[in-house]
Amino acid sequence: MSKLRAKISGVHGWVPPYILTNKELETMVETTDEWIMTRTGIRERHILKGEGLGTSDMGAEAVKGLLEKTGTKPEEVDLLICATVTPDMTFPATGNIISDKTGLCNAFSFDINAACSGLLFTLITASKYVETGMYKKVIVVGADKMSSITDYTSRETCVLFGDAAGAILLEPTTEDVGIMDSIAGTDGSGRNYLHMKAGGSLKPPSHETVDAREHFIFQEGQPVFKFAVTRMADVSAEIMERNNLTADDISYLVPHQANLRIIDATARRMGVGKEKVMINIDRYGNTTDATIPLCLWEWEDKLKKGDNIILAAFGGGFTWGSIWVKWAY
Ligand code: UT7
Repeated sequence: MSKLRAKISGVHGWVPPYILTNKELETMVETTDEWIMTRTGIRERHILKGEGLGTSDMGAEAVKGLLEKTGTKPEEVDLLICATVTPDMTFPATGNIISDKTGLCNAFSFDINAACSGLLFTLITASKYVETGMYKKVIVVGADKMSSITDYTSRETCVLFGDAAGAILLEPTTEDVGIMDSIAGTDGSGRNYLHMKAGGSLKPPSHETVDAREHFIFQEGQPVFKFAVTRMADVSAEIMERNNLTADDISYLVPHQANLRIIDATARRMGVGKEKVMINIDRYGNTTDATIPLCLWEWEDKLKKGDNIILAAFGGGFTWGSIWVKWAY
C-alpha cells in the first residue's frame, strides 16, 4: 500500500488594513527609513487597530477565507492547531477561540508556542495526525498581533514587527506530494537573547513589571542575528542534502521573514537564486507565526503541482526548522 502523506490543499492570509510606514516610525522613535531598509529590508508593516480585537480575530479571518476558497464546510474540519506567541489570553487556547468564531463545531483545537518557528513546528505536528490516517481535514493557523507586545518607545524592536494571520489546510493523499520531510531543533539556553521578561509564572505581572516595561519583546539583536544566519542556513542545506535535492530541484525557498540579510544568507548557502526566494518582509515586517503562510498565499498562483519547496525558520527559544514540501495543486 502506498504511503499516506499530508498534502497542503489550500492557503489563505489576512492582514489588517492599517499600514505603519517607516516614515511614521521616524516620528515615534529616533530612526530613519534608510536605517530600517538597509538593516532589515522592511518598508512597512500592518497593525491591528481597534478595541477588543486580538490574534483570534485575524486567525478567524484567515480560516474563513480558507474554508471558502477550498469549499470546506466548517463541520468537516477535524482539528485546528494555532501557532502563536500572542494568544488572546494565557488560557484558553487561541485555537479554541478561532474554532468558535469560525463554526468548527466538530474540531478539537490547541495552540503551539515555538516563537518564530511555531508555524513550522505546528505544520510538522499537524502532518502526523494526517499521515497516521487519524484525521482527514486539519487546519494550521499562524497568527500574531505582535503590536500587542511591541514597545513603541524602543527603536531596537518596534521597527521589526507587524500583525497578520495565515491558514493552511492539510488533507491526506497517496500521491507523491505533500510534506515529504522535516527537521526541527531547539536550544533553550538561548532563551535570554529573545523573550518577554514578565507576565509568565516566573515573573507574574505587577506594577513593577509594568513600570519596567517588561511586558514587551526583549531582543539582543546581534547574537540572535548570528544564530539565525547559521541555523536557518544549516537546516535548509541539511534537508536538501539528506533528500539528494540540488538547487536546480528547488522551485522556491520560503524563509521566515525576520531580516532580509538572514534570508539572503540562507539562499546563498542553498545555492538558490533570488528569483526563487519568497520575500515580502518589505510590506509586512516580521509577523512571527504568519510569515510563512503569508508567503505561500501571495505566491499561490505561481506554484505548480510537484514543485519542490523548502520552508525554513529560526526564532526565540532558540528554535529552528525546515520542511520539504512537494506542492499538491
Ligand atoms: O524572528 C525571530 C528571530 N529574530 C531575528 O532573526 C532578528 C535578528 N537580528 C536582527 O535582525 C538585527 O540584529 C537587527 C535588525 C535587530 C539589528 O540590526 P544590527 O545590524 O544587528 O544592528 P545593531 O543592533 O548592532 O545596532 C547597530 C546600531 C546601534 O548603534 P551604535 O551602538 O552602533 O551607535 C543601535 O543603537 O544601530 C542602532 N539602532 C538603530 N538606529 C536607527 C538600533 N535600532 C535602530 C533603529 N534606527 N531602529
